[in-house]
Amino acid sequence: MASFNLLLLPGDGIGVEVMGEVQKLVSFLDRQGVAKFAVEKDLVGGAAYDAHGVAITDAAMKTALASDAVLFGAVGGPKWDKVPYQHRPEAGLLRLRKDLGLFANLRPAICYPALADASSLKREIVEGLDIVIVRELTGGVYFGEPKEIVTLENGDKRAVDTQIYTTPEIERIARVAFELARKRGNKVASAEKRNVMRSGVLWNEVVTRVHKDEYPDVKLEHVLADNCAMQLVRNPKQYDVLVMDNLFGDVLSDIAAMLTGSLGMLPSASLGAEDKATGKRKALYEPVHGSAPDIAGKGLANPLAMIGSLGMALRYSFGLGDAADALDKAIAAVLASGGRTKDIAATGQNALGTIEMGDAVLKEFQKALG
Ligand code: IPM
Ligand code: MN
Repeated sequence: MASFNLLLLPGDGIGVEVMGEVQKLVSFLDRQGVAKFAVEKDLVGGAAYDAHGVAITDAAMKTALASDAVLFGAVGGPKWDKVPYQHRPEAGLLRLRKDLGLFANLRPAICYPALADASSLKREIVEGLDIVIVRELTGGVYFGEPKEIVTLENGDKRAVDTQIYTTPEIERIARVAFELARKRGNKVASAEKRNVMRSGVLWNEVVTRVHKDEYPDVKLEHVLADNCAMQLVRNPKQYDVLVMDNLFGDVLSDIAAMLTGSLGMLPSASLGAEDKATGKRKALYEPVHGSAPDIAGKGLANPLAMIGSLGMALRYSFGLGDAADALDKAIAAVLASGGRTKDIAATGQNALGTIEMGDAVLKEFQKALG
């Protein structure tokens, strides 16, 4: 039987609660003999800062580097608003992404028919939506240097962030998008701001060349990122795969998430380059939502994005496509039978808590796995 090293990093706020539901599913897979999971758990974000004074320890990084996959909950919260910038909770996540080389972030936005009415958009706009945002995750303005706030001679301050992209960084993320499109609707939309940013000009040039040389069979469209934001709320179903830089991907994937009914629905996979010798990739899976301090600890959080992230791990890191399909089916079945957490419930409708929703998925998962 295949066996895998799995690192769980629940983090802060609702990260802890939603990870609890994933742990139940992992134990079930292990008990059923679908695969053996050696599970380790560690701290990240504010929780790591409170315990160790850093957003992630070197020891946890070492475990992450040795894992077949990392499952990540969420980090941050008002409690850590005043900690030194380099130790803020988000720094733990950024270090994981950078040190594991997780340059490709896949954020699928699927609107389950049962949830079309939970979206803030009209049913006909979002029903049946199935798009993937491919976000570049280790470059751009998140990491470019200089990145600083300096005090000028007259006492004013000046803040600088630097947007940087090199040809190979754009080539490799473009290839991820084109490869993915070939397995889906065969369409890629590439978003940038070439009308004001030099990095946008290069992005456009490189994507155009990679397309022409390697993927001429895929339909490619270039769109300005601001226009893309508008198109995503006007007619999101025109898209299949979208590819964009780190910052635009962060912003536009929150829009995409809300199209599906709730930010609590969107899973994501962050993948590194394939190791040619082993065929494996470093990988981290996380919900797109954050730590939601306002509802943390109340048992109200929707665990479906975290559970969906486990589904992506089963598919992309463990080669357990059948189990991943069964998990997707289980989520759809729970939703179809009216199971709703508070964020996706209609006004007046009875809502399930985090644990009840996790149990409902587990029950359907047992059925679907047969
Ligand atoms: C996300 C989050 C992160 C990001 C934060 C927590 C650093 O918003 O994954 O979208 O900005 O990338
Ligand atoms: Mn974000």
